[in-house]
Amino acid sequence: MHIKDVLATVGEEFQAVDKLIHEQLESRVPLVEKIADYIVSSGGKRIRPLLVLLTAKAFDRCNDDAVKLATVIEFLHTATLLHDDVVDTSDMRRGNLTANAKWGNAPSVLVGDFLYSRAFEMMVELASLPVMKILSGATCVIAEGEVLQLTNVKNPDTTEAQYMEVIHGKTAMLFEASTHSAASLLELNDQQRLALKEYGKELGMAFQLVDDVLDYEGDAEEMGKNVGDDLAEGKPTLPLIHAMANASEEDSQVIRNAIRKGGLDDMDNVLRIVKQCGSLDYTRQQAQACRDRAQAHLDIVPASAARDALVALANIAVERTT
Ligand code: IPE
Ligand code: IPE
Ligand code: MG
Ligand code: MG
Repeated sequence: MHIKDVLATVGEEFQAVDKLIHEQLESRVPLVEKIADYIVSSGGKRIRPLLVLLTAKAFDRCNDDAVKLATVIEFLHTATLLHDDVVDTSDMRRGNLTANAKWGNAPSVLVGDFLYSRAFEMMVELASLPVMKILSGATCVIAEGEVLQLTNVKNPDTTEAQYMEVIHGKTAMLFEASTHSAASLLELNDQQRLALKEYGKELGMAFQLVDDVLDYEGDAEEMGKNVGDDLAEGKPTLPLIHAMANASEEDSQVIRNAIRKGGLDDMDNVLRIVKQCGSLDYTRQQAQACRDRAQAHLDIVPASAARDALVALANIAVERTT
């Protein structure tokens, strides 16, 4: 199934999310609206809202509340992007200059706060305590994930387990919260809620693992964001952790130093070692393993086009180049 077919499964509802996103950007303060509209109008793959809609569709309940929940989650995601690009000093996002590159750090952080807050306003309208519990908990874990990552920056001794904890927090948690909160809104049984939660988590892990591969071998233009940002920031992602453990003593030192230093001076050398060690393949294999586990959790969902789309989305997350 191609992404177009996945989208077609919830075509109308997906458009309704887009409409609600734009409606909810409204603010009394012109700069808030300007920046929020800028990042939202730059696009984005909208994978997380898609997860909510497809989950609801799989149980024949893709109604207005599901559309609202999907919008809430895209707002939370967009807020994290505004903050993340400040923290990562990134200057390209969704094919455009980042908000921080265009307006500076202060407005980006504050508009990120606005989007978080607007998300919580909408969430309250859903009047579901279990949904609020999942999403408020998730936002804490995401923030913790980003802070934990900060504490690992420029540290070449970061372990694979520490890396996994970071990507679970900063990325997988919101995927997990998307399917889990949708399952909760639908009042599914405990077994179904757990399976959908685990599906989202594994999918999110796969998604970030691939993101970390693409940061080394992706195409900046196609992705709409820079390649090499992770090394520039001294981020010890899995390709580097694997290469350090498998390269010669000398090559391993090259990577250790590159992580300690940050910057892109050593990129060519690092890339050569990472490729020699098969570290990008290794990282992709980990993503595939997460994808397989994600799909296995869908056994509990009744057969339907929406279920097929959830299966396909996990494949797309791993095979993506953008
Ligand atoms: C970017 O997420 C942040 C990561 C978790 C890697 P997406 O790749 O889903 O970003 P958009 O919304 O499509 O721009
Ligand atoms: C994304 O992490 C996680 C969040 C936005 C919370 P990255 O820093 O790896 O994402 P990109 O590469 O900037 O999209
Ligand atoms: Mg970033
Ligand atoms: Mg990245």
